[in-house]
Amino acid sequence: MVRYERLLADRAELFRASEVRELLKLTEGRKIISLAGGLPDPHVFPKEELAEIAKEVILEHGDKALQYSPTAGVTEFREELRKFMISKGVKVNDDDSIMVTTGSQQALDLLSRTFIQKYDEVIVELPTYLAALNAFRLSRPGFTGIPIDENGMRTDILEEEVKRLIWLGRKIKFIYTIPVAHNPSGVTMSIDRKKHLLEIASKYDLVIVEDDPYSFFVYDENVDVTPLKTLDKEGRVIYLSTFSKILAPGLRIGWVIGNKYVIDVMERAKQTADLHSSTLTQYIAMEAIRRGVVNKTIEKAKKLYRVKRDAMMQALEEYMVEGAWWPRPVGGLFVMVFLPSYDIDTKKLLREALNAGVAYVPGSSFFANGTGWNTMRLNFSYPSPDEIREGVRILSDIIKKHLKGKPQKTIKPEHIYQA
Ligand SMILES: Cc1ncc(COP(=O)(O)O)c(C=O)c1O
Repeated sequence: MVRYERLLADRAELFRASEVRELLKLTEGRKIISLAGGLPDPHVFPKEELAEIAKEVILEHGDKALQYSPTAGVTEFREELRKFMISKGVKVNDDDSIMVTTGSQQALDLLSRTFIQKYDEVIVELPTYLAALNAFRLSRPGFTGIPIDENGMRTDILEEEVKRLIWLGRKIKFIYTIPVAHNPSGVTMSIDRKKHLLEIASKYDLVIVEDDPYSFFVYDENVDVTPLKTLDKEGRVIYLSTFSKILAPGLRIGWVIGNKYVIDVMERAKQTADLHSSTLTQYIAMEAIRRGVVNKTIEKAKKLYRVKRDAMMQALEEYMVEGAWWPRPVGGLFVMVFLPSYDIDTKKLLREALNAGVAYVPGSSFFANGTGWNTMRLNFSYPSPDEIREGVRILSDIIKKHLKGKPQKTIKPEHIYQA
């Protein structure tokens, strides 16, 4: 047997499977209520329309659609994306460029490889999207976490942290944020915070990465989801989005918009990764935009997920232990629950929950500073409303047992930062 481990690069250490993922694997094939993943409800997938489009694309445009294509993406598709973005209120500047990526996960990886060196500093929300942390981690930066509250990133704390990092002589590469329907917490950044964030970026000459998979389907009325990209007047925002939630994740099509200079460098990085994203699914996605299938899917998803979000909110109100805190997500797929005791470790609770038939993701992996062990991320897009109710009821019973009826004090996200 070859001992491959002696040949692996140091960075392979960072590809370790997480213990949570290993535990969740145990649920495969078992009947379990999963509040864990981030899967869209398959009822939302426009199967008939996509089948028709795929057939046409292959039979009528197969010479191009089955061929290699440019690294930055199929030219016509990039133009369609530009129009789509403008129709959704995302500003695309004359000196911007759009590049197609293999899901927005690839954009996160390309950003990591393009910008970050060992000991650089990346600023993230506390908590933030785990797979972004993992992608950035490969380039070995330091992370500075900024707490959130109901209105998104605490920009007052951000400014203090930026000043501190500059004083320490650290090189801040970018601020990574998910302003709308944040994964994992479910909060949305207020317009005042967005403006403040841009002011800080301008004052200290910083770049912002805006990751935006969710702003297209917000369930409540009168929510201002103006992107940072649109408010930005100085070309400081690199904007990412994806078809994963508004069409189908299996297509693996995302995109990144930013200043031409940056996108050109990222394009060269992409060339070494995969030459280009699937030509075929780019053609399919392009036709889906043109025929209104994307907008129809968004409307369908909004209706369905609003009901599920409401089921989640009701179940939490009804069953969750006293003192627990959670925000009310205006959109997206997730809510994070903050349990009212630092003595509870949701990673340890997971096995018991799985035995009782419910899965969730323990929150601590989303916190770059290793805190958040009293938190859990719950998904409401995949399970049915009945499963959501039942899942939350079972979880609450387990948590109650662990709290042993002791009176507890609410722990909000900003308290975790101070802990
Ligand atoms: C905030 C955020 N960014 C990026 C992604 C990656 O999406 P994909 O690679 O499917 O486009 C996700 C998926 O859940 C996400 O929640």
